Amino acid sequence: MESWIKNPELAPQGRLQLEWAERNMPVLVRIREKYRDKKPLEGALIAACLHVTKETGVLVRVLRDLGAKVMLAASNPLSTQDDVAAALAEEGIIVRAIRGETPQQYFDALRYLASAGPDIVIDDGADLHVIMHTEYSANARRVRGGTEETTTGVIRLRAMERDGTLLYPVIAVNNALTKHMFDNRYGTGQSTIDGILRATNILLAGKTVVVAGYGWVGKGIAARARGMGARVVITEVDPVKALEAVMDGYEVMTMNKASEIGDIFITATGNKDVITLRHIEKMKSGAILANAGHFNVEVSVEQLERVAVSKREIRRNAVEYRLPSGKTIILLAEGRLVNLVAAEGHPSEVMDMSFANQALAVIRIWGGPRLPVKVHDVPREIDEAVAMEKLRSMGIEIDVLTEEQRKYLESWRG
Ligand code: NAD
Ligand code: ADE
Repeated sequence: MESWIKNPELAPQGRLQLEWAERNMPVLVRIREKYRDKKPLEGALIAACLHVTKETGVLVRVLRDLGAKVMLAASNPLSTQDDVAAALAEEGIIVRAIRGETPQQYFDALRYLASAGPDIVIDDGADLHVIMHTEYSANARRVRGGTEETTTGVIRLRAMERDGTLLYPVIAVNNALTKHMFDNRYGTGQSTIDGILRATNILLAGKTVVVAGYGWVGKGIAARARGMGARVVITEVDPVKALEAVMDGYEVMTMNKASEIGDIFITATGNKDVITLRHIEKMKSGAILANAGHFNVEVSVEQLERVAVSKREIRRNAVEYRLPSGKTIILLAEGRLVNLVAAEGHPSEVMDMSFANQALAVIRIWGGPRLPVKVHDVPREIDEAVAMEKLRSMGIEIDVLTEEQRKYLESWRG
């Protein structure tokens, strides 16, 4: 088995990036200290399909230090940090990822991992889980368990469970509170704004920012955009979430209406065709479109490409389309995850918690009793252990229930 990376000479720069990330990932480092001697992952072959970032690099090193053999491929063709990939490959981790790889190369890398017959499958978006189930089902039947990092991946796996096609148990890491409350909200909130600013360097103050979807990701983006002085408009399909957005102080309207007033549009729904030609035709000239949802299906790039009379890369990660009317529309990061393509993804501090959940879930899968074949939530004790360790690393102590208080909370007599 061998690595497929951009350039091995980038390894020294990648090592520095990994060192930098690890400084802000104390929970993951603590897991390594606690388990290093016991080697709880000895004998496990792990296939991981994750954004190949410095934070993923720290996770992969921890899994290796706990005894696993790890293979890594990208969970998006544009999110790989080639220097990190080079550093990991130099250390003997099998890495199959190059930033800018074609869709064919992207899926070939996943096939490479699936064909190796992994014991554990870690995924972000479920493309690897799907390939295991469709093209390598004999290998899938031998998988002890998997994990899933993101909302969209969990939705796909639950659909497989409903259809009766799921072949191995999967722990939905996304559903841990210490994952989505922090990663999806604060992580994506900050890194999406970071990506938009790196791609455009525009002033957010005074702009109208339209955020589609008021779930965990949308809430985070809306809060950060408002914090920088933007007028924030929310679009939703869920009446409860829409009401929540209203009461959080945002304007809520349909995408049809918002299209007429927005300067910047950010999709965060996990759904397709959220912005289509009928919306684009109503937008102001110069409107900026960005996506933070997992797949590049939220903005209909295909329709934009079809009607545009010309296009040019006006800045790195920013393409200007000219429409037949003469109007221009700017699409960032090809409609892919703007925070990972135009910036570096979430800061290490939040990935620390997401990946601590990943590491503990993997230890549970390999070392604990076999899990039934279904989509599982992260056990509550893992979630609480991650939160406690994060607080400890921040030097924060919290109160503890007295025995009397615990009994009071459990009784109805008062
Ligand atoms: P969520 O389920 O909490 O929120 C999604 C929201 O979008 C829901 O409130 C839903 O009602 C709304 N929605 C669905 N269709 C809509 C439409 N047509 N118009 C307007 N609103 C619509 O999910 P989440 O955790 O916020 O994740 C959203 C997406 O972001 C997923 O694809 C997830 O995988 C991805 N994600 C990306 C990153 C990143 O780094 N960019 C991080 C975490 C999650
Ligand atoms: N998803 C979002 N940000 C990420 C990061 N920094 N590393 C890996 N996956 C991510």
